This record gives sequence, C-alpha cells and structure tokens, in this order.
Amino acid sequence: MRRIRPKKILRTLNRKVVEMYDALVDRRICGQSLVKYIPSEERNDTEKIGRTGAQSTPYMVLKRIFSHVELTEKDSFIDIGCGKGRVLAYLVKSKAPCKISGVEILEEAGKIAEAWSKRYDNVSIIIGDAFELNYNDYTVFFLGRPFLPKTFEVFISKFEKEVRHPITLLYWVDQQSGAYLKGRPGWTMTHREVIYKIHGMMMAGSPQGFSAWTYVPE
Ligand SMILES: C[S@@+](CC[C@H](N)C(=O)[O-])C[C@H]1O[C@@H](n2cnc3c(N)ncnc32)[C@H](O)[C@@H]1O
Repeated sequence: MRRIRPKKILRTLNRKVVEMYDALVDRRICGQSLVKYIPSEERNDTEKIGRTGAQSTPYMVLKRIFSHVELTEKDSFIDIGCGKGRVLAYLVKSKAPCKISGVEILEEAGKIAEAWSKRYDNVSIIIGDAFELNYNDYTVFFLGRPFLPKTFEVFISKFEKEVRHPITLLYWVDQQSGAYLKGRPGWTMTHREVIYKIHGMMMAGSPQGFSAWTYVPE
C-alpha cells in the first residue's frame, strides 16, 4: 500500500497555489500563463555552456527583489535569460518607467516573451545568446541563475571587459556563484537575503539567495 506523506502533499499544494496566483497575474499582463517549465538544451558547464531551463520567478519574489532598486526613466533594464518574460511582466505590472529588455536563447521561451510583450512599447525581446550582446547599453541587470558556475565566470569576464559605466545587478538564486563577485575589483554587494517563505508560502523547494550588487568600472 502507498504511504501517505503529508509533507509532500503540503509542498505540492503550496506549489500549486503559488503557480495559480502567478498564472492569474500572467494572464492579466500577458494574456497567457508563463508558468510552464521549458528544460535547458545545454547543461555542459565544463564546456562553458551550462544553461538552466526556463523557469519563471514567482511574482511575490520579484516584488521583494525589486523593493531594493528604484528604476528611473534614465535606466535601461535587461533580464539576461528572460525565459518567457516573467520579470518583464512584473516590471510592466509595476509601471517601471524605463526601457525593459530581455534576452533568451531558448527559442520556444523567447517566442512566448516576444508574442505577449508586443503590446508594450517599452519592452523588447532578443532571441539569441546572452554572450553576443554588448552590455554597455544597459544600467540595471537581472540574473535569475541563467548560467551554471563556470559559464557564469566566463560571462562576468565578458561583462567586465565591456561595461564602461556604473551598473546595478540583481542576482536571484546566487548561492552557487555569487561568491565569485566578492572581492573582485569594482563589485560591491549592497544587499543580501535568503528568500524562502513569503506570506507563509514557500517560494521554492529550498531557501534561495538574492543579492544586489553595484559594479563601477575602474
Ligand atoms: C531560470 S530561467 C529564469 C527566467 C527569468 N529570468 C525569470 O527569472 O523568470 C533562466 C533562463 O536563462 C536562459 N539562458 C541561459 N543561458 C543563456 C544564454 N547564453 N543566452 C540567453 N539566455 C540564456 C535559459 O534558457 C532560461 O530560460
């Protein structure tokens, strides 16, 4: 006979409720749900192409994260690895006054972001590799753990070579790679917290780190 596992049932219920709430908000902003997970096609971190799948960050987490940054008309925001565009949807919902961009390598996910965001003039999607963009065009960056650790390090080297003005980086799920930025010239951590439960609801299967950084090139 199958054993009943109350903890597992509660976790599943919790996840379903968070997803239902997120899907409701998605439909209001995007006309469709952005909940579906799309797996990564490349996880080979030793070859420095370690990418995570397209998993959308819950709105409640985004509200917490964006309470640590004030976007102005002069900013240019980009979500590196934007998936189906949940972060961008959150910024539309909260009426961010700046240009909002996302780059996404998985065509299936990027096309979803592109389709819903067409109705918003200040949102644009690039379907392609984040390693091929020039980051000097942006001031505020969001990373929702798009890269596995070695790939993250390669990305940071590229970033530091290109960026010529002070920027802000919001790094969600930073526990694997965030320490890499500590002590690097130009980088300062302005905030860090561990996010697990919000309003009594679990936001992920385990506690996840969020840190906010500034980078001022030499
Ligand atoms: C965990 S998801 C986060 C999605 C979204 N930022 C959010 O927080 O809701 C990470 C995304 O990064 C994308 N990604 C990984 N490597 C990439 C690359 N080199 N260029 C563009 N996108 C990439 C993945 O395909 C995936 O959709």
